[in-house]
Amino acid sequence: MIAVRYRLGIDFGTSNTVAVIHEGDGRTRPVLFDGFPLLPSCVCASTGKLLVGREAMHAARVRPELFEPHPKRRIDDGTVLLGAAEVPVSGLIAAVLTQVRAETVRTMGGDPETVVLTYPAAWGPRRRAVLLDAARLAGLGTPQLVPEPVAAAAFFVAATGAAVPVGSRVVVYDFGAGTFDASVVTRTASGWEVIASEGLDDAGGLDVDTAIVEHLGTVHAATHPQEMQRLVQPQTVADRRANRNLWEDVRTAKEILSRSAATYIHVPLIEQDAPLGREQLERLARPVVDRTVALTRTVLTSAEPTRPLAGLFLVGGSSRMPLVATLLHRATGVAPTVLEQPELVVAEGSARPLATTQVAPTCTRGWCCGWRTCSPRRPARPSPAPSPGAWCSSPR
Ligand SMILES: Nc1ncnc2c1ncn2[C@@H]1O[C@H](COP(=O)(O)OP(=O)(O)OP(=O)(O)O)[C@@H](O)[C@H]1O
Ligand SMILES: [Mg+2]
Repeated sequence: MIAVRYRLGIDFGTSNTVAVIHEGDGRTRPVLFDGFPLLPSCVCASTGKLLVGREAMHAARVRPELFEPHPKRRIDDGTVLLGAAEVPVSGLIAAVLTQVRAETVRTMGGDPETVVLTYPAAWGPRRRAVLLDAARLAGLGTPQLVPEPVAAAAFFVAATGAAVPVGSRVVVYDFGAGTFDASVVTRTASGWEVIASEGLDDAGGLDVDTAIVEHLGTVHAATHPQEMQRLVQPQTVADRRANRNLWEDVRTAKEILSRSAATYIHVPLIEQDAPLGREQLERLARPVVDRTVALTRTVLTSAEPTRPLAGLFLVGGSSRMPLVATLLHRATGVAPTVLEQPELVVAEGSARPLATTQVAPTCTRGWCCGWRTCSPRRPARPSPAPSPGAWCSSPR
């Protein structure tokens, strides 16, 4: 392996993987995949090998049963069944990282000297081990792991020149495809420290897409019950293909509505174009967005609230929805900072040399043992309350 003097930062996301190169002169540039900075994180086990990204999406049109659209969402599953084959989740992630490595080496003429891989701040050692295993399988050695909100905060400061004095804190609102995370990161003398990170596994762009699909199901169920049943719960290859096309169209329409007032969604099988307007979308997205805003307010007011707040930074493609900044501003009284390409922020930040103290976030609810993440993904306060350390004995 020839190592060339550059750093590579990789943000492995639920929908998209982004990689950024940092060269010795301080310049950064995203790795391009078919000309785009976003590599879809999907995998298709077609013709005996694992295809990735747009190639996988294309193959999935013919063999949808061999397709895994979101390997990151399967992080706890161990293996995934693709057709008749059981594929380890680490192998799926490795396929994506292998593609990243191949494109990077093609561009730079050799492997990076340093690789940095980001992870959601709430991930425990078990999930991080799957990520490291995948990196090793992809020939990336043992990358440095950096929490996503730390990378995001560092990049915001570099890109906007925001003043974040030592001792102050910033809130990173990360609304991606699969999950939502609200983190509080403080500036320390040596770098950054995550002091709280709360997440929702069921609040991402995909959940907004689900709300739209359910809406279409309700609208058309009365007139086309059989077709809608086939679309929503596909049993045959043809129906699965129609289902994939519908989800693709729904996602595209949702993204268009961040900049346009109205668009159409083509509903396969019944072959109709359903109109969708921005207001309608916002009504459908509102329950998901409301939960992200409420959680942000909670971390903002409960994680060391006496520290000065230096910024509320928006990260992730779903934060492009105009509704997000409006509701956040209204609920917190803080004007959020948004960058032009919120999907690139985490990878951009991770590619830069970063002094960081990677401290696991502490519980912001006041009833956990307090030595590692206490996540709202846990359903309710246990009774009796756990003794210190006990609750966290099987971290994620
Ligand atoms: N213009 C837009 N308006 C609304 N949503 C958008 C827009 N552009 C992208 N998205 C949504 O953003 C999501 C992808 O964002 P991103 O790439 O940040 O997620 P990810 O990093 O893959 O996911 P995660 O961080 O949850 O692992 C998708 O759900 C996509 O539909
Ligand atoms: Mg992300």
